[in-house]
Amino acid sequence: MCGIIGYIGKRQAAPIIFDGLKRLEYRGYDSAGMAIFDGSNGVQIKKDIGLVDDINKRLNFLSMQGNIGIGHTRWATHGGVTQTNAHPHISNNKKILVIHNGIVENYQELLTMLKENGFTFYSETDTEIIPNLIEFEMRKGKDFEHAAIDAIKQFDGYCAVLAMFEGERKIVAARNGSPLVVGVGNGENFIASDIPAFLEHTKNVIYIHDSDFVVLDSNRVKFFNLEDGKEVGRPLHSIDWDIEQAKKGNFDHFMMKEISEQVQTVKSAANQDKEILFEIADEMKKAKGVFLVACGSSYHACLTASYLFSKITKLHINVVLGSEFSNYENFLTPGTLVIAVSQSGETIDVLDAVKTARQKGSKVMSLVNVVGSSLHRNSDRALMLNAGPEICVLSTKTYTAQLTVLALLAYTIAGKYDEGKKNLEYLWNIIYNLTAANTRKYLMKLAEELKDKNHIFTIGRGLQFPTSLEAALKIKEVSYIHAEGFSGGELKHGTIALIEQGTPCIVFSSKENEKEIISNAMEIKARGGYIIGIDSKKNKDVFDFFIKVPDVGDLNPIIQIIPIQILSYQLAVLRGCDPDKPRNLAKSVTVK
Ligand code: AGP
Repeated sequence: MCGIIGYIGKRQAAPIIFDGLKRLEYRGYDSAGMAIFDGSNGVQIKKDIGLVDDINKRLNFLSMQGNIGIGHTRWATHGGVTQTNAHPHISNNKKILVIHNGIVENYQELLTMLKENGFTFYSETDTEIIPNLIEFEMRKGKDFEHAAIDAIKQFDGYCAVLAMFEGERKIVAARNGSPLVVGVGNGENFIASDIPAFLEHTKNVIYIHDSDFVVLDSNRVKFFNLEDGKEVGRPLHSIDWDIEQAKKGNFDHFMMKEISEQVQTVKSAANQDKEILFEIADEMKKAKGVFLVACGSSYHACLTASYLFSKITKLHINVVLGSEFSNYENFLTPGTLVIAVSQSGETIDVLDAVKTARQKGSKVMSLVNVVGSSLHRNSDRALMLNAGPEICVLSTKTYTAQLTVLALLAYTIAGKYDEGKKNLEYLWNIIYNLTAANTRKYLMKLAEELKDKNHIFTIGRGLQFPTSLEAALKIKEVSYIHAEGFSGGELKHGTIALIEQGTPCIVFSSKENEKEIISNAMEIKARGGYIIGIDSKKNKDVFDFFIKVPDVGDLNPIIQIIPIQILSYQLAVLRGCDPDKPRNLAKSVTVK
């Protein structure tokens, strides 16, 4: 889950690469580095551990001269977080520079072979074998491009690679499973893991497909197939959102900005291409088995959908974690419909699930946010979340967008499309109030009470059970407080043993399950628990802290999560955590 960017053109590369790296930092931020080349003098390399801005203060990235450059932000997979392990990596002959996202699974055997051929290694990374393998291939008399192709073809595993050779004014790249996209400028070209890295320079993009090998110079971008070396054509697309949407605006962090954007993103998510929506609804009705497959928050959205489809459509759907999907492959037939749900469209466990589905002849449809992502391009049909770029590592606006689209699908299958669309579009008013300054100020009182707690529990029943799981994920991944979500009905099967004096427990309640869940809350309270109630009305006897959320029936999961998104953000800020870039995490999990 690293961020990579390259530039070649007529302008100084350093400022472009530097800004691009900062827009890519949400993909990984252990360390960062840049290599800049002016086409004649030696390549300059600067890299270190830490955030891009901090490294720049120490090493002055912007002092590097040249109009060809590559840059990298790292999320460590092989080797610790050290300056030596930071990218770019250089070949023994000091002429080939490489940055890489992904894993070279057979790097040990390649490392042994290269060492036997006299190569020396200095880092603990798998990446360092790439520039040296290219050098090894060039020693056989191949030019840089052909040497790079033959080297990259030897890799097992998913990766995206950018390489520069000191002797030539070009950047070469290859993609196999990890995201990569080209930005086409006027007399300059860009290549990066994600569009925001170069969007302020061009809106013209070319999506790179798996097994593509790309050669960029200032005026041309050429695509070849890695396997047979034949040139291939790739279409040019124009992006319909702008860089302002990928900036923080007046907010201190993307997380709060994106939580606030839900006032309009839920409405945008409800505004679907009706033809595709009805087509997917029909496919679901016809299918001999439907699987929703996702990870993390997207999985919680799918789990919520399983309750909605049962309640609204009577249609049985299976929900499976992407990483567990292969265990169910014997259920898959050509009549099965697999719906993959992924905001990034690059989550490797979901992409692997899609591959498994394809191998069994099943149809694949998807809900994605990133246009042109791997999942988007590998689906028979896709519904877009229309949430705009989500920069914060945490999924907030895309989570409620997924819930919205899945709810709309359920209403459509039940023949209630108009009713469902109207109910969903009405939510903006409630979300506006839930994200308003006075609500945030009220929630800050709770955040102050909880900020030093070691454990927080969240419970719910029915539709509120997946909401409790999502609430716990939000809290733990951004504030590092241990949080556990569970079904209220499971309380007495073990978890109640953990309740002590003052243990905070967030209780999601609604008309549908009020009696049972309040009973659970009383059991926790009786053992000293501190009850935070999320409900449409205050239960004075049980709630120690009350968060008022209107009851909107089946659509409760879309709005009940919002106060906890805000609370999680506030806990992170109070605890000195970075809400946009939590430790050890990255925006999309592109390695297994
Ligand atoms: C949620 O806050 C996390 N960022 C994470 O669980 C995320 O939902 C998961 O990695 C799935 O990502 P995707 O939707 O891009 O596939």
